[in-house]
Amino acid sequence: MSSEEKKLCLGIETSCDDTALALYSSEKGLIDSILSSQANIHQIYNGIVPELCSREHTKNLYVLFYELLKRNNLKPSDIDFLSLTVAPGLILSLLVGASFASGLSYALDIPIVPVHHIEAHIYSVFLEYHVEYPFLALVVSGGHTEVYLVKDFENYELIGKTLDDAAGEAFDKGAVLLGLQYPGGPAIEKFLSSYENLETIDFPTPIKDDRIAFSFSGLKTFLRESVNIYPKEALVFSYQEAIVNHIIRILQRAIKRTGVKRLVVVGGVAANKRLRERLQTLDIECYIPSIKYCTDNAAMVSFVGTLRFSKGKYYKKSDLHKLNPQPSLSLEEFIKSFG
Ligand code: KG4
Ligand code: ZN
Repeated sequence: MSSEEKKLCLGIETSCDDTALALYSSEKGLIDSILSSQANIHQIYNGIVPELCSREHTKNLYVLFYELLKRNNLKPSDIDFLSLTVAPGLILSLLVGASFASGLSYALDIPIVPVHHIEAHIYSVFLEYHVEYPFLALVVSGGHTEVYLVKDFENYELIGKTLDDAAGEAFDKGAVLLGLQYPGGPAIEKFLSSYENLETIDFPTPIKDDRIAFSFSGLKTFLRESVNIYPKEALVFSYQEAIVNHIIRILQRAIKRTGVKRLVVVGGVAANKRLRERLQTLDIECYIPSIKYCTDNAAMVSFVGTLRFSKGKYYKKSDLHKLNPQPSLSLEEFIKSFG
């Protein structure tokens, strides 16, 4: 994109339970970001209820849109293009985002750049740091636990992933077993902030062979069997330790095997204080976003959208029928189909 082509992007993220919008200028960088969390709605059910997510997105999107424009003294016609999370995620949530984006695209005659949610998480780190290629990217969120070798923009190789639950899912399901609220990661952290020097209970070690793979379901089963045996404080502490130890062990393996010099750790679980502490002990240059960019947000979506737009990859108003939200499209498939 040349300097004459100053563009303003509106990023739209509705893949799960957070409704988020952001404005990103190709000239000035991130302008503003706004988010409405639904955590208090889903808490009642101990987890996410997809139908409720999409209803909330429908209610929130226009309110957030006008609030974002108002507080930045902008009008809809100032937006040059849209950047939208199209996969993976809850299908109804993705469809609400896609309908909102399509409406704006028609009304304003502006293009839509499709973005993959995992890709957006990986690039969330670029909102604050410049990271040289190649780097390893650990994506640890509520739906994903994957390690990619990132060779360049749109050149991603998956080198390891979870065989069962995602790390965030392990926090969320574990918290319910421990009598704590959804979302589990922040609830576990808050609970532990009142204690010090807790006893460590030995959890089993997942993935004993030499694969670069994650598995959290055994830790959850051990937790379920232990709730009536050990004191709650020691169990909460040890469960978090077990999750973090497992992530660190597999990362060490990935670092050693690839010989890559830089690591980014992104996604909701990257907000975890204990994990952030332990990551600093790894023998690698490690980049972790600020907490607000670890969990779902639209700033990361607008950043990736701006990169992709500069390569001329977008759907014009006349191509909107090609916009195809998909609940479980992998990052590699997405890049093949579009990138
Ligand atoms: O990236 P994210 O906002 O949404 C997905 O794409 O899934 O991640 C949400 C997940 C939830 O499972 C939540 O429990 C976890 O991230 N999480 C945390 C923390 N904050 C959020 N896990 C551990 N410690 C935290 N501080
Ligand atoms: Zn996410």
